[in-house]
Amino acid sequence: MNLLPRSLGAQLTVLMLGGFIVGTLFATLAMWSPNEALHPIAREHALSRTVTAYRLAQHQPVEDSRWLASFESPVARLWLDRSPSAWPMRAEELALALELNKRLPVARIAVHMPCRGQRPSAALDGTRQPEIGAECVDIDLSLADGRWLHTRQLLPVQSLWSESWRVVRLSLLIGIPPLLIIMYVFVNRILRPTTALTDAAERISQGERIDPLAMQGPDEIRNIAVAFNHMYERITRFVDERTRMLAAISHDLRTPLTALELQAVLLPPGEQRQEMLRTLEEIRQMVDETLRFASQGARSEASQRIDLVVLLEEVCGYHRALGQQVHLDAPAQLFYRCRPTALKRVFNNLVENACKHGTCVQVTLADRGRQGIAIEIADDGPGIPEAMLERVFEPFFQLDPSRHREAGGSVGLGLAIARDSIQLHGGILRLSNRAQGGLVAHLELPAIGARGTAD
Ligand SMILES: Nc1ncnc2c1ncn2[C@@H]1O[C@H](COP(=O)(O)OP(=O)(O)OP(=O)(O)O)[C@@H](O)[C@H]1O
Ligand SMILES: [Mg+2]
Repeated sequence: MNLLPRSLGAQLTVLMLGGFIVGTLFATLAMWSPNEALHPIAREHALSRTVTAYRLAQHQPVEDSRWLASFESPVARLWLDRSPSAWPMRAEELALALELNKRLPVARIAVHMPCRGQRPSAALDGTRQPEIGAECVDIDLSLADGRWLHTRQLLPVQSLWSESWRVVRLSLLIGIPPLLIIMYVFVNRILRPTTALTDAAERISQGERIDPLAMQGPDEIRNIAVAFNHMYERITRFVDERTRMLAAISHDLRTPLTALELQAVLLPPGEQRQEMLRTLEEIRQMVDETLRFASQGARSEASQRIDLVVLLEEVCGYHRALGQQVHLDAPAQLFYRCRPTALKRVFNNLVENACKHGTCVQVTLADRGRQGIAIEIADDGPGIPEAMLERVFEPFFQLDPSRHREAGGSVGLGLAIARDSIQLHGGILRLSNRAQGGLVAHLELPAIGARGTAD
């Protein structure tokens, strides 16, 4: 199961947030110590008590030690002795001794924590006792008369872990909001060029000409833009060259064709001359159509945002004016970004076919939202044999060429041009036979072209 969000922006956010949280936790773990620290306030209090007692002890008569009782409490005991307790001091004890030494520079000092690092905690008599959560601290100070002041105090301890955890929570709470803001700015900056790239790819798939992509964003994205521009330039050059070549061939064919026609006209009248002229006329039509297709290729037309309903109504109206029965079923308006002339030629070719083969034509336009736009052109003619439904899209292919050509003007390019233009818009054109007889041309245009739909 993939728990990562799908978008790159969200993935980068999760990655950076996760990195920040894990980093903070690791830093805390690195500082973590199993020891507990003496509570800072209690520690200060114990040091002050010791300093005060020491200063008083210096001025009290040797035989009187009753004043010591005024310093005692359930957690502190003080007494005077001739000798110090001898013990080597550990780091923590030494730190305490040095701190005391700053306040009492004249005294010799020894600090000892008999139960430090042991569990359970200490009691005032130096033994260990469970459930106290305190540390026994012995401090011995040398007096001017050679005696030693002994103090034994119980100081509460606090867990370093709970303190660290508090710091972690605080740094996460304070650190995450600015991190999110910085991430938003940077992720946006990284992703903006990819949106432009997607947009450009969509427009190319619709057959639009685009300007080269601007170089922006991180190096990797710039490299993609360079490769994309390069690819687009090569494809455009390739298509242009092919179109130019087709136009040139068709154009150059006209001269020998005219010469042949002249020669045919000079032949003695008869069946053969007629047949020759008819064939030459067919070839001329084919050449003319090809030249028209090549020179007015849909690729050269700029995209515009237009109302498809108006465009379809124009085509249907034109055929109605010629006496055909053409019905249009469409919403009030439907704006779409496309190449109007190319699309009008498509509609015209399909409606013309339907009128040629049927008596009643039904055109339907439907907006299917995110699924795009669907257009159907149905007629009540003879339809096309199932096996031929794809072949009729081949250039110059006609089911009954002699009949079509006798009718004049038909060379078998209408469907080929229509499919080419629709594919240029990123759409699909297919044919199917209706159950009740007749043919339907199904036209599907992608929703992306509807970028201009909002109005
Ligand atoms: N609605 C239809 N009903 C029956 N057959 C059709 C229909 N539309 C096209 N066809 C068949 O498909 C063939 C190819 O159609 P296409 O439009 O490409 O060429 P055309 O109509 O013959 O000539 P052009 O369109 O170049 O004037 C036609 O010759 C015809 O046989
Ligand atoms: Mg046709």
